[in-house]
Amino acid sequence: MKIELARKELSAYSSRILTSFAHISLLASRSNHEPSPSNLDYTLLMNFPATRMRRLRRTAALRSLVRETHLHPGALIYPLFLCPGEGVRKEVSSMPGVFNLSIDEAVKEAEACAALGIGGLLLFGLPSEKDEQASGAYANDGIVQQGLRAIKGNRKLDSLVAIADVCLCEYTSHGHCGIVRRDTSPDSAHFVVENDASLALLAKTAVSLAQAGADIVAPSDMMDGHVAAIREALDAAPRTHHESVPHSSRSDEWDRATATLSETPIMSYAAKFVSAFYGPFREAADSAPQFGDRRSYQMDGANLREAMREIDLDVAEGADLLLMKPAGTYLDVIRAARERFELPLGAYQVSGEYSMLHAAFARGWLEPERAMMESLLSIRRAGADFIVTYFAKDAAKILS
Ligand code: PBG
Repeated sequence: MKIELARKELSAYSSRILTSFAHISLLASRSNHEPSPSNLDYTLLMNFPATRMRRLRRTAALRSLVRETHLHPGALIYPLFLCPGEGVRKEVSSMPGVFNLSIDEAVKEAEACAALGIGGLLLFGLPSEKDEQASGAYANDGIVQQGLRAIKGNRKLDSLVAIADVCLCEYTSHGHCGIVRRDTSPDSAHFVVENDASLALLAKTAVSLAQAGADIVAPSDMMDGHVAAIREALDAAPRTHHESVPHSSRSDEWDRATATLSETPIMSYAAKFVSAFYGPFREAADSAPQFGDRRSYQMDGANLREAMREIDLDVAEGADLLLMKPAGTYLDVIRAARERFELPLGAYQVSGEYSMLHAAFARGWLEPERAMMESLLSIRRAGADFIVTYFAKDAAKILS
């Protein structure tokens, strides 16, 4: 009891000392400038009623003037899921408004995105066949390769950055992001996703997508050393896909610089966490693992310091841009990355974040427009320069 009283007294005493220090230093700084016009106690000016935060919230114009974070369509990237066929527009049941699209339909969707001023597209593919080696990922006539050629051949789409996701999970029969070695029976839980063997296939995939016209390749597999492997392969590979720059405007220097794929940037999903929020995507991309889970290669959601190490390594390996994923449940990781790295930084508002909000919209529990914009603004405020989001079109319509 006595100790408790003494502690209280001590803290009251120390706060009095602090207040008078603040007072003295304010008076001192004032005396360096003009003499005081009155005997006002300036320490009080810092508080109510002199300070009223609501003054700058009074009108829409004032609020707009002092707004710290902004959203614009050019910072939004829209994911597309390409599938074989023609005229196909199949809605993903857990993602209202998101479709599997044949290439002709995807081009229409891309034109709508360009008209809305959206910054870019992130392309995923559903191949007609899957196998253990993920052949569809690096086939010259693979579904995303075909889609890229259609998109890059359409001048109306020049304002869009075409980003190709680089991963094997949509193309492997088992749904894992790399080559699988099973220790016992085929359906056993004992399996290893082999890191180094997977690197060669990922690098091959990145080269194939870049040759088909990808403006950026984005590895999402979480294998160690993937950025270095992809950079090396791109720098050594010929740039054989069709050129959009007219011959008349090329120089020798331009030819040399573009003889390989050394100009293709890598956007690394540097810190990608194991997440329940990828669930709906796995329906959209038909990429759910047939056995086991991704815990041996994607990150444990508990680890912020480890995420910084992942990014350090990807930067050292040559990543040009970073992508954080998921976004809404990892805003602190986005903020930490923003403070530590100078690279352009994106965040992926993943399928489950979208589906969760839509489920609430469908029940009338949340106002769609406001909830959507608030979710996107929070990701920007956390420090993301751009956002991959299934809301890209809806948000761009409001913003433009
Ligand atoms: C591929 C990949 C996934 C997502 C993006 N790339 C799925 C996964 O890792 O299981 C998820 C995106 C989303 O949920 O919207 N590896």
